[in-house]
Amino acid sequence: MLRLISEEGKDDMLARGYSRRQMMRAAMMVGGAAATAFALAPEMAAAQEAEDVKVRISSNECWTGPMPIGLAAFVKTAPTSNRYSPNNERGNLIKAVSQIENVPEDHIMPWPGSNEALVRSIFAFCSPTKSLVQADPSYETMGRAASFLKVPIKNVPLTAAYSHDVKAMSAADANAGVLYVVNPNNVTSHLAAAGKDVLVNRTFSKIFGMAGARVGYVMGRPDLLQKLRLYDGGYLSNMLPVASVACATASLGDKATMAQRRKTLNENRAMTVDFLTKRNFKVIGSSEANMIMVDWKTKSAKDMQAAFRAQGVGIGRSWPTWPNVSRITIGSKQDMEGFMAAFNKVVSA
Ligand SMILES: Cc1ncc(COP(=O)(O)O)c(C=O)c1O
Repeated sequence: MLRLISEEGKDDMLARGYSRRQMMRAAMMVGGAAATAFALAPEMAAAQEAEDVKVRISSNECWTGPMPIGLAAFVKTAPTSNRYSPNNERGNLIKAVSQIENVPEDHIMPWPGSNEALVRSIFAFCSPTKSLVQADPSYETMGRAASFLKVPIKNVPLTAAYSHDVKAMSAADANAGVLYVVNPNNVTSHLAAAGKDVLVNRTFSKIFGMAGARVGYVMGRPDLLQKLRLYDGGYLSNMLPVASVACATASLGDKATMAQRRKTLNENRAMTVDFLTKRNFKVIGSSEANMIMVDWKTKSAKDMQAAFRAQGVGIGRSWPTWPNVSRITIGSKQDMEGFMAAFNKVVSA
């Protein structure tokens, strides 16, 4: 199992105070020991929903498939998948990202999605003495990896306006290994190109409609990326599914489709928020994302999830800090109408 972490990676972990036992646990995580992998990937439980779920608004997936231009590239590349890299697909993705993000090519590292890179960031930058600092609630992958490795975690409540309290986060631990800000397009991102201690994670799982195709990338200083590479098992960030990568590269420049999807998403979210607020349910914060957090007030989110599920609607999970709040993905208009129809039955029941 330990072979899954490079010799250099093992030395690096030991030098930073990890025990051999913790290294073994890290290897279990990257080796995909089934129970561990499942526990780390927050979307998996809901994503594997039973077939009787007709409206899937649980896992922040996009309601539509890959962009047509990406799909054409996927179909064109798929027959050459007998080769590891028939047409330098990975290099082409890096070039395209470099142009669009205006970041040097050596600052870009593709991964299969973003979860894998998040887990590696804990190995690479935290240790038994260097904590993970995160908001509470937060996206769970980092926290789960840290607690599995027994890395200290500092949970910092959100502000009264439900944003990250970045001042409190930076004050939470002078010896932090990672400060995790999980907020799309947040202001730290341009610092990655400026050579600061910042890594930016991006994924094709959302607006590009490619969650199951598994492509994402990390941007940051080459020496920081090299630290992640110590824990990629020697291949994960290099040997990617070529058809998926070609799909991602072709989709990146399609600003018109992205704008159209964003417009539809905003309309469907506004319709859903309006529906809920008119019925006196609170939607937390002002979401600009493909999901909303709904406060059921006196009802537990787990019970509500089960009640919606009985109507064939799969809504998302809740977080321990907010047991009466559910995460609900914004889907197509039809999905959201399905959600509203189920709501009328669930809430009046
Ligand atoms: C904030 C955030 N980060 C990461 C992910 C993981 O997605 P992926 O590994 O598909 O990129 C998700 C998925 O919902 C997410 O919401």
